[in-house]
Amino acid sequence: MIADIDAARAAAVASIASAATVDDLRRLDAELLGKKGPLAQLKAGLGKLATVDEKKAMGAALNDAMTAVQSALDERRAVLARAERDVQLAAEALDLTEFVKPPTRGRAHLVTQAWERLEDVFVGLGFQIAEGPEVETDWYNFEALNMPPSHPARSMHDTFYVDHGAPGSTVLRTHTSPVQIRVMQAIEPPIYMVMPGRVFRNETTDATHLAVFHQIEGLVIDRGITLADLAGTIDAFTKAFFGTEFGSRLRPSYFPFTEPSAEFDIRTPKGDWLELGGCGMVHPNVLRAGGLDPEEWSGFAFGFGIDRMAKERHGVGDVREMYTNDIRFIEQF
Ligand code: PHE
Repeated sequence: MIADIDAARAAAVASIASAATVDDLRRLDAELLGKKGPLAQLKAGLGKLATVDEKKAMGAALNDAMTAVQSALDERRAVLARAERDVQLAAEALDLTEFVKPPTRGRAHLVTQAWERLEDVFVGLGFQIAEGPEVETDWYNFEALNMPPSHPARSMHDTFYVDHGAPGSTVLRTHTSPVQIRVMQAIEPPIYMVMPGRVFRNETTDATHLAVFHQIEGLVIDRGITLADLAGTIDAFTKAFFGTEFGSRLRPSYFPFTEPSAEFDIRTPKGDWLELGGCGMVHPNVLRAGGLDPEEWSGFAFGFGIDRMAKERHGVGDVREMYTNDIRFIEQF
């Protein structure tokens, strides 16, 4: 009988070893260890043995054989399961090397970069930064800046009106100069402040004009401030922002809120002059609108376009290009 047990055991282990899938093993498990399996049948024959000792010995041999078959099944199952999982993982794996080009990083828009650099340069010159609202009252945008309702200079600004309050009382600010008044009202002099922000003009856009653009306003109020301080500040700014090989000049001009007024130009290393913005000594009426006594305080103001600066700095031909958000353009800066 021992020979039968060994043979059944060997046959079982051999068929387990050659099982190709976990499913095959499940079937073999039932076949080999089930009630009709070869070992179970041998076990059924134990009763026919003559002596108790024989029964014991054969029973033990059968148990050994069943345990051996069981562990052969378990081992084979583990091997096959791992192999099947490997196949599945390989099939589902993402090939990360597919992304040969690393994803590009975003960056600040060209105009935002210019805005931030301007702030940095002015902070370096000792200025603080303030911002005002984009929707303004007529009073802040015009009247407090020495432009009463019938003032001809208002026609220089093609104004967008907002449907709010009395007709014509609320505007999208046409420049950042109203923030001058808000700053004078909010803090005591001395004031050394720059005020960047978005402004709006109701005009047709072209290569050098946008209906929505950005300005940075400057305001200095202190005792004994003169035109020389204005010229010196403009020149210090020009050299800090563009480089020491650049120069600046003031050209007489007119703004209702400054007296005298000037345009300021910068000189490129090639010797070309580039018009940058307006400036002048703060008009006494403007100081009064801001709650300051013109006998005690004097100051200067300037304002220029941020988009224009970005355009000139990077040699962009058409300001409108900066807002098409064409990635091929934007990515260059
Ligand atoms: N606000 C003027 C403009 O938009 C610029 C300016 C600011 C001029 C301050 C003088 C002083 O054109």
